[in-house]
Amino acid sequence: WVASADRHEDFLQCLQYQNSNAISKVIYTPINSSYSSVLQFSIRNGRFNTSATPKPLVIVTPLNVAHIQAAITCSQKHGLQIRVRSGGHDYEGLSYVAVIPFVVVDLINMRTVTVDVANKTAWVQGGATLGEVYYRIAEKSRTLAFPAGVCPTVGVGGHISGGGTGMIMRKYGLAVDHIIDAQLIDVKGRILDRASMGEDLFWAIRGGGGNTFGVVVAWKLELVPIPASVTVFNVTRILMKEDATKLIHQWQYAIEKFDEDLFSRIFIWRSANSTQEGKPMIQAAFTSLFLGGVDRLLSYMQESFPELGLVREDCIEMSWIESTVYFAQFPRNTSLEVLLNRGPRSTIFFKGKTDFVKEPIPKTALEGIWERLDQVDAESAELQFTAYGGKMNEIAESSTPFPHRAGTLYQIHYAISWDEEGIEAYAKYISWIRRLYSYMASYVSKNPRQAYVNYRDLDLGVNNLGNTSYRQASIWGTKYFKNNFDRLVRVKTAVDPANFFRNEQSIPPLSSW
Ligand code: FDA
Repeated sequence: WVASADRHEDFLQCLQYQNSNAISKVIYTPINSSYSSVLQFSIRNGRFNTSATPKPLVIVTPLNVAHIQAAITCSQKHGLQIRVRSGGHDYEGLSYVAVIPFVVVDLINMRTVTVDVANKTAWVQGGATLGEVYYRIAEKSRTLAFPAGVCPTVGVGGHISGGGTGMIMRKYGLAVDHIIDAQLIDVKGRILDRASMGEDLFWAIRGGGGNTFGVVVAWKLELVPIPASVTVFNVTRILMKEDATKLIHQWQYAIEKFDEDLFSRIFIWRSANSTQEGKPMIQAAFTSLFLGGVDRLLSYMQESFPELGLVREDCIEMSWIESTVYFAQFPRNTSLEVLLNRGPRSTIFFKGKTDFVKEPIPKTALEGIWERLDQVDAESAELQFTAYGGKMNEIAESSTPFPHRAGTLYQIHYAISWDEEGIEAYAKYISWIRRLYSYMASYVSKNPRQAYVNYRDLDLGVNNLGNTSYRQASIWGTKYFKNNFDRLVRVKTAVDPANFFRNEQSIPPLSSW
């Protein structure tokens, strides 16, 4: 501790020296009264907000590029690790937790969004949230959008560094498929854009995972056209298990034929409140965004998935921006300004995992899922099945580091959340999700069993604290990136050979074979 206290003093002096003026206003150490509130403001997972969670020696909330450069230079000089934070949604808390002395560079003050309607582009600073991006686009145009995630408080810094799936991905692909330039500060403190960083590094930062190649100061987005009116529905069916099995089984075949204008997802959970003969039933919410009007949607659903029994009353026409508020589960007619609100909505404890399904899962296997849902009494235990296909099938696996493209039928996201602190609750709920994951092994992608880096899961493996082994990293690296992992390692070796930007699952340089 003495050593780290010294390092932290030296680091602070270095910052002042590098950047004599304004930086002192944006430095927080544990003796500052606002240190805890600054740290906790962007914590989204209660698992990493306990008294036992390791805390940063210093938090810097840069106001400009020079502050970030100073933090990078001084951290290297004084042997501290950097954790960059944008929205703080990392599933394993990697943007604000480390087990060795570290500094958090929190981009909360750098979140300007500048929209250029004429050129259908926007520059977005690394600390902006998706809600801020969507709101600022809609402020200028109701027929332009950006394909990215659903939760408005997710930060663009981490989200786009990992891919970015969302409600219009079947039409347009991912966020990373629409990044046309970026501003990055590398390990030498240089500010690079697409031209000066070169196509290899530009490729790697669009999906190769955050905190690995440098600090993304801003992304340039290519905006996409959207109809002035879209149609949404969220149809919940409370099902006896046999019916749930039948309907969800049929959905797996229907999605293969779905038009790319139709996004489709099922949320599946056990309902303790709905019972039949004393037994809880399965609830399944079929959620869709359709890029068109209700008449076309209804005739389309009648043709492709009549078993759902969708009727006009289930559907609502609205603008795309209103749909972002709707899918964020705010009540109808909530003001669009809610998208600008980045305050924490709750800090539940949670753990998530992902899988990719290539072939429809047999009915008997679905029944095994319901049995496992019956065995847990968590605050919430839920599976999300998200249809892939459409545009996702047309983009080559190597076009960005995100490899889960053609051949993926749908993605499964498993999540469990609870509200009791303590080791017992932790062990109970985490072991439940691990058992479910292990049960699913035979029904999902294999060799490798693929996973989505934005739903980070340290169960897949972690880097060593000291020297990171390529072999070890390739265990989880090929799950997240498949064959793109090796190219990511080559880029990392070229741009950060000493592995300054790192975390438990960052790409290692080749020196560590
Ligand atoms: P955070 O700040 O925690 O950063 C995540 C990682 O990126 C960390 O390693 C961090 O160091 C690094 N990083 C952050 N900013 C950086 C920068 N400027 N430069 C370099 N590295 C940086 N995903 C999805 O694809 N679709 C979805 O719909 C959703 N929905 C969703 C809902 C909720 C409630 C959660 C908690 C998460 C999601 N996600 C998601 C997952 C989300 O995309 C993922 O957790 C992102 O990494 C979060 O980015 P943040 O900037 O918020 O996280």
